[in-house]
Amino acid sequence: MKQDMIVILDLGSHENTVLARAIRALGVYSEIYPHDITVEELKALPNVKGIIINGGPNNVIDGVAIDVNPEIYSIGIPVMAAGHDKALCEVRLGEFANDMEAIKEAVKPFVFDTCKAEANWNMTNFVNDQIELVRRQVGDRKVLLALSGGVDSSVVAALLLKAIGDKLVCVHVNHGLMRKGESEDVVEVFKNQLNANLIYKDVTDRFLDKLAGIADPEEKRKIIGGEFIRVFEEEARKLDGIDFLAQGTIYPDIVESGTKTAKMVKSHHNVGGLPEDLKFELVEPLRQLFKDEVRACGLELGLPYEMVFRQPFPGPGLGVRCLGAITRDRLEAVREADAILREEFQKAGLDKKVWQYFTVVPDFKSVGVRDNARSFDWPVIIRAVNTVDAMTATIEPVDWPILMKITDRILKEVKNVNRVCYDMSPKPNATIEWE
Ligand code: XMP
Repeated sequence: MKQDMIVILDLGSHENTVLARAIRALGVYSEIYPHDITVEELKALPNVKGIIINGGPNNVIDGVAIDVNPEIYSIGIPVMAAGHDKALCEVRLGEFANDMEAIKEAVKPFVFDTCKAEANWNMTNFVNDQIELVRRQVGDRKVLLALSGGVDSSVVAALLLKAIGDKLVCVHVNHGLMRKGESEDVVEVFKNQLNANLIYKDVTDRFLDKLAGIADPEEKRKIIGGEFIRVFEEEARKLDGIDFLAQGTIYPDIVESGTKTAKMVKSHHNVGGLPEDLKFELVEPLRQLFKDEVRACGLELGLPYEMVFRQPFPGPGLGVRCLGAITRDRLEAVREADAILREEFQKAGLDKKVWQYFTVVPDFKSVGVRDNARSFDWPVIIRAVNTVDAMTATIEPVDWPILMKITDRILKEVKNVNRVCYDMSPKPNATIEWE
């Protein structure tokens, strides 16, 4: 890394990630470290221009008061802190809550005037640095990547292709639970346009056979996750001389599972679960980036806008939106209805506004009438929600004419469906997904 860095020491404050993002938005790279980092560890970090101790002294975690090592104030790097007499600047970011703009203004004088940091953090520099680092790490050896088509794995693939070309081997597993056109897009962009060394595995039948008759959502998730690892493992074993596994780990994964004072602990789950004898060294080129930076990086690398701004899609895919025991007719209905919803949301500009939107097909039928005859078919439920962190969510009040157009198209174009409903429930009490 050639970029200047401001280090944030984590005393359990809620604003640490907002603070890091605010400093990066000023064009200066910033990372969060545990409060008890040693002076040696700190000195070993590259280009540290300043330290911000956020959270104030006398923080208490699990009944024990915590503070930073006081030697940190005397190593010759400017420190900004809430009230220590050796700190060069004082800051009380708590009062800004999560207001990014206010935090930017508050730290600007420290970052640029006191620390004399250079605003050299940008995606062009980041991509160039990572290409160099990956080449250094990997040399002539080969890297394997599970390319799901999600934002993170797509950006990793594009970056590694630039860095090591055909020494990157991508495996795309189509479990038959992808949205309409999604696997085809992965093949089109990565194999046809970017010339990636891509192995495409269509294992739809294998997944649907395993899932036949399984109605419990958690059991479905376990089967889909477990089978995915097995297919990936089988492909990995067929390949010779692979030393590295690339993963789309991003900075929030590291912060949430890494620092000692972080409130929320989450183990990140990319391609975990591979057997012990398949040991790979990890390549994680996005581990420093927040999600919005991952997207910026994807655009910098020339990936299509739709791929980079793709809405979140759960690992089990349409499997948890075709409720109960999955059947092919209902899976097809949920896929076709979802494609219509996405198309109409895009036409109305809602794709850029709504956080997540999809359709659900439950496993009960209702009576309807079609061509003057009684029908007995599935309903389609539309869900459109907004959220910041997926922990709570509100529904999008979609305009009636848009909903009516979508309803009309679903009823005309999707087989085995005779009714369309709109899910009005926020989270809580509902969750975002139905299963
Ligand atoms: P819920 O339904 O818990 O969803 O309100 C919150 C967010 O998580 C996504 N989700 C999943 N993602 N595997 C995933 O990778 C899963 O099993 C899973 N279940 C829910 C959901 O789409 C929403 O964005």
